[in-house]
Amino acid sequence: MFNIVPQPNEMIITGGKTRFTLDEDTTITKAAFIDEFRNFVKKQFDIRIHRDPEATENTIRLELTDEPDCDEGYRLVSRDGCIYIYARAENGLFYGLQTLKQLLLQGNGVVPDLYIDDKPRFSYRGFMLDSGRYFQSVKEIKRIIDLMALHKLNRFHWHLTEDQGWRVQIDKYPLLTEIGSRRSHTNFGVKPESGFYTKEDVREIVDYCHRRFIKVIPEFDIPGHCVAAIACYPELSCFSRKLKVATHWGVKHDILCAGKESTYRFVFDVLNELFELFPDKYIHLGGDEAVKMRWKRCPHCQDVIRTKGLQNEEQLQQYFMSRVARYVKEHGFTPIMWNYDGVESTERLDRDIVWQMCGANEENGIVRRELEAGRKMINSSAFPYYLDFPYGWVDLKRAYEYEPGISENILGVEAPLWTEYVPDQKTADHRTFPRLGAIAEAAWSAPEDRSYERFESGLPEYFDLLNVYHVHYATLKQALPGKLRGAAQSLWFNRRVLHWQGLHNLIDDARVERAHKNDGK
Ligand code: ACM
Ligand code: ZN
Repeated sequence: MFNIVPQPNEMIITGGKTRFTLDEDTTITKAAFIDEFRNFVKKQFDIRIHRDPEATENTIRLELTDEPDCDEGYRLVSRDGCIYIYARAENGLFYGLQTLKQLLLQGNGVVPDLYIDDKPRFSYRGFMLDSGRYFQSVKEIKRIIDLMALHKLNRFHWHLTEDQGWRVQIDKYPLLTEIGSRRSHTNFGVKPESGFYTKEDVREIVDYCHRRFIKVIPEFDIPGHCVAAIACYPELSCFSRKLKVATHWGVKHDILCAGKESTYRFVFDVLNELFELFPDKYIHLGGDEAVKMRWKRCPHCQDVIRTKGLQNEEQLQQYFMSRVARYVKEHGFTPIMWNYDGVESTERLDRDIVWQMCGANEENGIVRRELEAGRKMINSSAFPYYLDFPYGWVDLKRAYEYEPGISENILGVEAPLWTEYVPDQKTADHRTFPRLGAIAEAAWSAPEDRSYERFESGLPEYFDLLNVYHVHYATLKQALPGKLRGAAQSLWFNRRVLHWQGLHNLIDDARVERAHKNDGK
């Protein structure tokens, strides 16, 4: 029996007398996207599969047909010593090849007569990478993209702007990368951190994703999480404060000023360049953790509250997000934002903004109400989908068993990897795997086929697959740590409290208050 991740909808070993055997003579149909599969076979079996559209024996035939009733679905048949993959679109054929990789690995190059009928549960199956807190090289990102494709994920959400670093070249505002992509140190350490993606890098990554049927969603996180941008262009903040790129984690109190027209010009200018770079028609606008302390004091922000008839600063954020979302929509893109804190009512919030559920889960009244009112959402419920959380908080079983389909308006699932405590690839791997396998199954497999026991019993084969990609996954024992080890992990993770800037924020707030009082005299 084979253990395929994510579990296919239907797999029948048909018990025929023939079997497919991978060898030097094996051929494959020509197609633009097959090299990724051929490279896997070369690496694992040291066999170069040749392209031959006419072959009828010992061949892997990819055929577009009308049959599977979904663009991403496929049918894989092993019969008469050949593999046939049928799909309605190329991404289905590509997913058939991902399944075939696992069959070949588990059968050591031999596939018995079998039949697989498979299609995804959700159309949105995402992974988010935070490149703001730590910078990953283009090579590291491509490896992550390969692993996403292996799990049949199709949305790469790229968190590119943060308090601690601005990571994408914007021609109109060169300081964003000249100054905003470097910080002098990280927390109490002395190690500086820097890096950004040129437009060339971005195009290379977007193209790499497209060849794996992955759409790329850039995140430009506004109005909070913008200290790196404010460090370059102080006038973006309410009091034109001179700040440095943030060196500590935690929620910052200086955010974009929602009252100055110049802020909107900046946001629209940056978006114009993002529209060019990211053609997949989604833009993530962040919207999370926007502390309203400065807005309460800012004459520009208060002026907008008055003239637009808004009730408070929370409504000012809704006005801000909606105005930017309208710009995004006018350019043919879909706006997305975190549903995080602050959004407790939505009178002023654009109905078309897709919410990415995170801090709040389905027990949150506003999430329920918005779903019922028809707002589309992506389920990234922090428990259990935040991959940076230690296994002591979210063990493998919990990540597996959570049911994301809480409404018809859930577009799908996304697992975010925040990187405050993920400075390198090895740590990223350990946090991400095997949990991403569990989450990919929630995104792809039919709910009635999901079973944690089956998933756990298939882990040896899953780990063999990850070994091909040199993944430093957590072992089963690490991923199911038990109470004592889990508590120890939580304690260690909670050292992050020391790394927050709480005291710094208090002192800084007092400074702003004092300046305000002096002005008022
Ligand atoms: C978030 O967790 N800051 C969206
Ligand atoms: Zn302001």
